[in-house]
Amino acid sequence: MKTALNSLFFLTLFSGLLVAQPRKQPTKNSIEQAGLWKDTDGHFINAHGGGMLVHKGTYYWFGEIKKGKTWLVPNQNWECYRVPAGGISCYSSKDLKAWKYEGVVLSATTTNRQNDLDTSQVIERPKVIYNQKTGQFVLWMHIDHKDYSYAHAGVAVSDKPTGPFRYLGSMKPNGHDSRDMTVFQDDDGKAYLVHASENNNTMHIDLLSDDYLKPTNRYIRILENKRREAPALFKQEGKYYLITSDCTGWSPNPASVAVADSPLGKWTTQENPCVGPNAETTYQSQSTYVVPLDARRGKFLFMADRWTKTNLPDSRYVWLPLEVKAGKVAIQWQKERP
Ligand code: DGJ
Repeated sequence: MKTALNSLFFLTLFSGLLVAQPRKQPTKNSIEQAGLWKDTDGHFINAHGGGMLVHKGTYYWFGEIKKGKTWLVPNQNWECYRVPAGGISCYSSKDLKAWKYEGVVLSATTTNRQNDLDTSQVIERPKVIYNQKTGQFVLWMHIDHKDYSYAHAGVAVSDKPTGPFRYLGSMKPNGHDSRDMTVFQDDDGKAYLVHASENNNTMHIDLLSDDYLKPTNRYIRILENKRREAPALFKQEGKYYLITSDCTGWSPNPASVAVADSPLGKWTTQENPCVGPNAETTYQSQSTYVVPLDARRGKFLFMADRWTKTNLPDSRYVWLPLEVKAGKVAIQWQKERP
């Protein structure tokens, strides 16, 4: 009897241990967040502050090329770390996992230091949308001087998603300074430039012209005096969600979400969409883009950068599942890239 009870005890303990095992073991192919993400040629993916275009069943990931030595711009009262502007890269994928390098789609130049695209300038946060009417791919980006005093939005076009893009120039949208930015294309074909303005104090949303090449005079000011940057706008079931970060240079901080019924409508702020440990630093990263995966069921991919401020080319990527449930956004930490 005693032996039978002992066996039962060990059997229960053993099956308990079995149950306690983590259900999802990392597989050989799993990719760690903020690890060395490689393209299909085995090279480190260089596409920071990026955005994603989904076109004809292919994902195109555009980002800043960060290479060279990181230096601190003198006489600034904030962490103004810089690398030479390296231009814009593109990677393509059918499954968001295997990334093929498509090359430099907009090159930085070295012929004239006054050029917007000179390596001494800032070229950040590239975002590409496709214009059905003109058949052109339109690339918007943040163009700046090394001390971020120029604050322009730049635009370039191409007939192909993989470039090369032809640079058209830069402007201050509706006369306002423009730093961190994104573009958002709505289902009705209208597109918007979302950018940190008024010295990073207030976000602006400008309706773009039908060809997406310039801002119209219709724009709104949102998140007034909230000092938000790194905007990423997406739509779910008729509502618009804008994720932003706080404004702390290259250091991570808490994200927040704002919601509206239309891009030029009234935006209401919600709380931090991140939960659990490291929610207060957006899991040590900063938003850059949100990709719809299955928007109807509220499934999205949150793309973020984990900056290494003193060695910017070693900055990494964090991609997390983002879910919208009953109008609330949640971004969950997970160890591996989805
Ligand atoms: C944070 C921004 O989001 C980045 O794109 C970059 O402009 C840095 N600030 C510069 O400090």
